[in-house]
Amino acid sequence: MMLYVIVPFCALFTFTLQAATRDVKCTCELTYSETAFPHGKLSTAESNASKCNSKITPQKTLELERLLLGLERRLPQLQEDVSMLEKENDGELYGALSLQVIENEMKDIKQLIDTLNSTTQENLHLTTDTTKQLEDLKAEMQELERYDTMQVVMSKQDNQRLKTDLDQCRNGLHPTIQPTEPQHGKCPHRQFLNITGPRVYTKGEYPGSYMYGAWGRDPKPQAGKENWYWLVLMTSSNRYSNYVRLYSSLSSLIVGVSVPGNVQIHSSNPTTNTVQGPNVVLYGEALYYNCYNQDAVCRFNLTTKTVTTLQLPKGTRFNSKGNFCRLDECYPYTDLDLATDESGVWVIYTTTQDFGNLVLSKLEEGEPPTLGQTWHTPVYKQGVTNTFMACGVLYATRYIDKHMEEIFYSFDTSTGVEKFNIGIFIHKMSPNIYALNYSPVDQMLHAYCDSHMVSYKVLFG
Ligand SMILES: *[C@@H]1O[C@H](CO)[C@@H](O)[C@H](O)[C@H]1NC(C)=O
Ligand SMILES: *[C@@H]1O[C@H](CO)[C@@H](O)[C@H](O)[C@H]1NC(C)=O
Ligand SMILES: *[C@@H]1O[C@H](CO)[C@@H](O)[C@H](O)[C@H]1NC(C)=O
Ligand SMILES: *[C@@H]1O[C@H](CO)[C@@H](O)[C@H](O)[C@H]1NC(C)=O
Repeated sequence: MMLYVIVPFCALFTFTLQAATRDVKCTCELTYSETAFPHGKLSTAESNASKCNSKITPQKTLELERLLLGLERRLPQLQEDVSMLEKENDGELYGALSLQVIENEMKDIKQLIDTLNSTTQENLHLTTDTTKQLEDLKAEMQELERYDTMQVVMSKQDNQRLKTDLDQCRNGLHPTIQPTEPQHGKCPHRQFLNITGPRVYTKGEYPGSYMYGAWGRDPKPQAGKENWYWLVLMTSSNRYSNYVRLYSSLSSLIVGVSVPGNVQIHSSNPTTNTVQGPNVVLYGEALYYNCYNQDAVCRFNLTTKTVTTLQLPKGTRFNSKGNFCRLDECYPYTDLDLATDESGVWVIYTTTQDFGNLVLSKLEEGEPPTLGQTWHTPVYKQGVTNTFMACGVLYATRYIDKHMEEIFYSFDTSTGVEKFNIGIFIHKMSPNIYALNYSPVDQMLHAYCDSHMVSYKVLFG
């Protein structure tokens, strides 16, 4: 290294020496034919682009999507109610009660349309603004490309084009072969392929008020309640709850109009047999959850308003000792995760004798409910953020980053086949998924994340 530095210095020295002796002056002129690169312009273009990015977020389109979805569900319901009303028409008078129902329905729809209108106006404004800005940016970048005298960007673009062509060529030659799997028991679907969404993303009735909770649909509803949704919020210390809130449709849940209202387990919260922790499910008009301060599953019958308890095996971790966790943080009181799928209700937990690994048990309905078959997995519960069941298969998720959660593990209860490389990603709208459950009715995953209700569609192969 030193040598390289020394040699030119020596040469320079000799040259200067000679020049001095001959008394000749030497001048060097550097002319750079290119104009200097306008770094300032590039950085404003960059900051303008990032401003643009932060203004146009996926939430903006989701907002519209959920409003439209709300309307889409609401209108057929209205139509149905009106035709019912017509049938009830007893000569001259319409049933006053039905009229009331329809009036409420119309009010909800009006509210939806108003919100939709203002959101559309807002977005329209934003789009016009942004289009103009993008056009400016494009012109600016084309201008800046003139400085690319070394053709760096151009060759990069060419390479990218070639790469795409190559990829297309490869895929054309080897079409991907879809694996076929046997059907799971009663399950009408085959392999869990992917998830899309979010489909619904809403703050619901109490924006930002409750960090922990769960929501979803009853897979085995009473006749007439097929479109109902339920919501359970941890209203005391972010840990406990004493009621289920019901909504007669998805749009009522979104706009926050709970017509049937609350069904209370007990007037105190918490107390014996109220809810502890967010991973609850509603099935067959009964709420299944971790009973307050017990290693047991509670079943609250919404019709009779009575609670039946089911003791879990000795050694079951409870009271925040066997939680789901992400990197540096565990989700409090997530010891017991209740789940539903095509075949009924399941409970996922861990025990001392399983060294903190996930244990899965089927809950058998009945009076009282009993613990059915149990499976033991090698997956450490604290390395998992949540679990759910779909078609008799247990799935576990882990935290990747603020925006991404990965479904990484599956265990098929009908074949015993276990997979550690599922690699299906959930695009999150907020960092933490506290409750995650599968709805076999519409193949949706319902998640409760930092006081938002989010849903995803499961794609089966
Ligand atoms: C960046 O935005 C400002 C203000 O919106 C505008 O005046 C400027 O021309 C933009 N610059 C570029 C490079 O797009
Ligand atoms: C939508 O909003 C605009 C402006 O706020 C208003 O003029 C228009 O009447 C609204 N349309 C409907 C259908 O409510
Ligand atoms: C799953 O869906 C995401 C987004 O919709 C997509 O980017 C990804 O490639 C899909 N994965 C598979 C395995 O199909
Ligand atoms: C709730 O109670 C009613 C009335 O006894 C009964 O018919 C129903 O099966 C019960 N539901 C559950 C899930 O146990």
